[in-house]
Amino acid sequence: MINTEHREDGLLRIEIDRPRKLNALSEGLKDEVVRVLERTDDSEVRAVLLEGAGDRAFSAGADIDGFSGRKPHETEPSRLNRLVDEYPRPTLAKIDGFCLGGGFELALACDLRIATTDSEFGFPEIDIGLLPGGGGTQRAIRMLPEARAKELVFRGTRLDAQTAAEWGLINRAVPESELGSTVESFLSDLLEGPPIALKKAKRVMNEGRDVGLSAGLEMEAQAFGLALSSEDATEGTTAFMEDREPKFEGN
Ligand code: COA
Repeated sequence: MINTEHREDGLLRIEIDRPRKLNALSEGLKDEVVRVLERTDDSEVRAVLLEGAGDRAFSAGADIDGFSGRKPHETEPSRLNRLVDEYPRPTLAKIDGFCLGGGFELALACDLRIATTDSEFGFPEIDIGLLPGGGGTQRAIRMLPEARAKELVFRGTRLDAQTAAEWGLINRAVPESELGSTVESFLSDLLEGPPIALKKAKRVMNEGRDVGLSAGLEMEAQAFGLALSSEDATEGTTAFMEDREPKFEGN
């Protein structure tokens, strides 16, 4: 149900491959993604790309067929979305089509999102008597003004990609013909960027969301100090002085 590729340049590509079910996320499928992320040595990964097979959906959400029979004590925060959120490398969701419910939550757990203009985003859970259960309410309320977050969750409003971009939920909405090149241009920055500085930046920005400013500034200062002592920082500054492109190795 998933396809994976670990490229020479450090890209870990994970494709959800259930196009006939609009890439709905079954428990088994989510476990497969968890296993790939946990089993791949992250020191060999420089960025993660998540995408859905076909051109109809990134994912239309949690597999509704699998809901019946689940008990309250069996629900807990999504292990997959937490893993993606905390993954020590930048993560990017490539979205072409429906990005709903659990699919939207997975995309929101990524650091960056690029979508085709005909993609659609939303939390339809309310329409089936539920609420987002994979971090959607919490990520939405942190990423959006409260009125917008609540509109999405309470009304199940579906947003087109242009509106999602205006609201700041996605980085770019591009025509389908430009999706591949836009994603590759983002990826080349991530793959060629300094791994230590990227890892530290992700960590302090994620953790800084939920702490006061002075604690956040303290975390940033420590991360900056560590990055400063890396070989990559020496390489970056030397390359600047020598007027050439730096080559970052992650040391
Ligand atoms: N879980 C399980 N199956 C799903 C699914 C989901 N979240 N979303 C779509 N599918 C399945 C459909 O049951 C259908 O299967 P079938 O061909 O075996 O009948 C197939 O994917 C295609 O979907 P379909 O509804 O026929 O496509 P559509 O273009 O008419 O509608 C959507 C697309 C996305 C609007 C519609 O599929 C939908 O509302 N999906 C559920 C979205 C949702 O509520 N997600 C949150 C779950 S908590």
